[in-house]
Amino acid sequence: MIPLTLPSSGYISEEPKILDLGCGYGDVTAGILELKPNSYAYLIDFSDEMIRLCRDRFEKNPNVHIIKHNLNEDILAATSERKFDSVVSCFALHHIAFEKRVGLYSSIREILKTDGLFINGDLFRCESPDINQWEFDTRVESILCRMRDKMGIVKSFDEFRKTRIEHEKRMDDKPGTIWEMQNDMRRAGFRYVDCLWKSRSCAILVAVK
Ligand SMILES: C[S@@+](CC[C@H](N)C(=O)[O-])C[C@H]1O[C@@H](n2cnc3c(N)ncnc32)[C@H](O)[C@@H]1O
Repeated sequence: MIPLTLPSSGYISEEPKILDLGCGYGDVTAGILELKPNSYAYLIDFSDEMIRLCRDRFEKNPNVHIIKHNLNEDILAATSERKFDSVVSCFALHHIAFEKRVGLYSSIREILKTDGLFINGDLFRCESPDINQWEFDTRVESILCRMRDKMGIVKSFDEFRKTRIEHEKRMDDKPGTIWEMQNDMRRAGFRYVDCLWKSRSCAILVAVK
């Protein structure tokens, strides 16, 4: 996606306390630990398999804590930890039920310290159905080109497009628009809301407590 670098100023603590939502195998936390090895990290996922893989991956680091929890349920019950420097999430929150999102963001705000950051890199839907369709087809086309050029696999556009639609249904993807998420973040009480980066259907939004 984008290069992971940090401003050289003292903006971010040397020992940040972070919460990674929908952590999967823990790649986001691993990236943060590379930049800030003394971080205290709490990771949440609801998949037994991901929890097991993460526990194995970070077992040597006593500052990493893995929690099994469904993000459709209140995260305030998942951990008594508070005053996080940052709550991060990558490609996970578009799975959360629409009606649960403002509540989740409110709880995220509650467990952040003042000025703490909620950073969400995710999949988003375009507002216009036509542009959304065009964007989807362009994405399918570019995956097909990469498969052909890098792996020598050739598939027809229509066949592969159908597979992608079925895959998204199976994964229960429910991306909202960037504007919906920004609005929900404001409804949850965040002071500032910004979009840091966007390319096609992917974007990184940040909200400041
Ligand atoms: C596409 S993976 C992303 C993993 C990781 N954040 C990354 O960027 O590599 C999405 C993750 O979100 C988790 N997830 C989806 N819905 C969830 C929910 N309701 N509660 C907790 N975790 C969830 C899945 O189990 C999966 O590990």
